[in-house]
Amino acid sequence: MDRKWWHGAVAYQIYPKSFQDSNQDGIGDLKGIIRRLDYLKELHVDILWLSPIYVSPFVDEGYDIADYQAIAPVFGTMEDFDELLREAKARGMELIMDLVLNHCSSEHPWFKQALSSPLSEEASFFYFRRGHDGLPPDNLRSYFGGSVWEKIEGDSDLYYLHYFAREQPDLNWYNEKLRERLFEMMNWWLDKGVAGFRVDAIMNIAKDLSFPGLPADGADGLCAASKMTARMAGEVSGFLKEMRDKTLKPHDAFSVGEAFSVREEDLAAFIGEDGCFSTIFDFSSHGLNEGLSRYCDFKPLTVKYFRDATFTAQEKANAVGFLAPIIENHDEPRGVSAILPRQWQNARGAQALGTVTLLLRGIPFIYQGQELGMTNTHFDSVYEIRDLLAREQYSACLKQGLSPYQALTILNCESRENARTPMLWDHSSFAGFSEVTPWLKVHQDQHRLCVEFQEGDPHSTLNHYRALTALKHHPDFRDTLTYGDFERMPCPDDDTICFRRVGERQEIGVIASFSHDTHVFPIGEAKILLTSGEVSFKEGELMVKPGSSAVFIIER
Ligand code: NOJ
Repeated sequence: MDRKWWHGAVAYQIYPKSFQDSNQDGIGDLKGIIRRLDYLKELHVDILWLSPIYVSPFVDEGYDIADYQAIAPVFGTMEDFDELLREAKARGMELIMDLVLNHCSSEHPWFKQALSSPLSEEASFFYFRRGHDGLPPDNLRSYFGGSVWEKIEGDSDLYYLHYFAREQPDLNWYNEKLRERLFEMMNWWLDKGVAGFRVDAIMNIAKDLSFPGLPADGADGLCAASKMTARMAGEVSGFLKEMRDKTLKPHDAFSVGEAFSVREEDLAAFIGEDGCFSTIFDFSSHGLNEGLSRYCDFKPLTVKYFRDATFTAQEKANAVGFLAPIIENHDEPRGVSAILPRQWQNARGAQALGTVTLLLRGIPFIYQGQELGMTNTHFDSVYEIRDLLAREQYSACLKQGLSPYQALTILNCESRENARTPMLWDHSSFAGFSEVTPWLKVHQDQHRLCVEFQEGDPHSTLNHYRALTALKHHPDFRDTLTYGDFERMPCPDDDTICFRRVGERQEIGVIASFSHDTHVFPIGEAKILLTSGEVSFKEGELMVKPGSSAVFIIER
């Protein structure tokens, strides 16, 4: 395999609105990120992914881009961006931009031009179709609720397509000129010095241009757009190959795809040696709620489900390429809350889960605050929640007959707002994120979780994450932890995760227990590299108490 600098990398996702405010407007910004680069360096981060920072009306928090080549004033200026890029590189870290290519904002000049002039080139960048008998062209349901079609004002039956919010019109990838414009823009960022992109919602770009619709999967008579996306999955790699050849490959750029429903037969085309992406996120544990259209039917994850889905994904990727293991991001509840049983939704559990996610095969992405063991934020009222999807989930729950209390309880478990609250830096009024009231509330456990509190404690989650990322980079183990195959090890119960990484001359074993019982593992001549919680090793036997993890090495 051709070795690349990113193969052994640790990546970190910054949600800029909530990372660090420097100008005291309650919203994070680029200068704030610059201030915290040393913190990230100490965490041994190699790649920084910035959620969107482009000019946007922020209907979907920046995933609705109005200008792909300008910085949103709320985050700063292009000079600030250039400084951030320079300062990150000076510390040996690379930046990747969030690239939203399936749609733009309805405020983008292309869409405005399209609306005002239906015969313009820009109009062909979008999907405009006529409805039938007073109904939209098909019955797909947008990811954010309601039809994917929005009627054009003033025209009785002309609609445009939006798989997400109505303010996010879908871009027509079947139009060559549009693709060229997008590729030019990508090359502009790459020439500027960014190392690559996180590519948003990319599986949605393939459409069935006859817009046939699908059998309804809900009482609203609609069918989730994700089901059409899954049906069209085979067409995506054709577009991606062109994108790779015209942008990523000539720059030797790093790319990570947000790619749900990749078919097994397409995995090599996505992440293989000559794949379209360097890696894709591992969303395998999402399978649990696949196909469910009612939020109130969502089933909670278990350690077993997470483990089994992750192990299967790891085995499939072994011979093909690299996945990007994650336990959370800005679209998910916090992993500690979502995956672990209640008794381990604490520092012990967070550390053991961190051991697993950082040492699986692939390029792990840490989401800001994960290294502190942040759990879900508790919202006392729906009025504290800003996210349009979470609000839609709330009203859908009410329509389905739930009480406001029950609906809020679901949001407190499932909503994406859980992980979007400000980063917890210190004990001050707004957690050191800002000196004024932040745009979103501060997490209830600020004092127990914040960086200031954890720095000095050698047993803190932050210091455990630092030890894990140091281990991943350690010259003696780096090769095995990067290229070593993933192999499952027998797990004594449903709440224990055991695997090994098999290198040429050594094997590294990983055990994490979220169980009620203490387990003993015969590991012979092994040497312990790292532990969390309560672990002891005597006469070839490793004793792992509940809420603990261990990493050991066997040299051959
Ligand atoms: C995935 C992004 O991560 C999410 O935040 C966004 O709402 C959708 N794509 C639409 O861009």
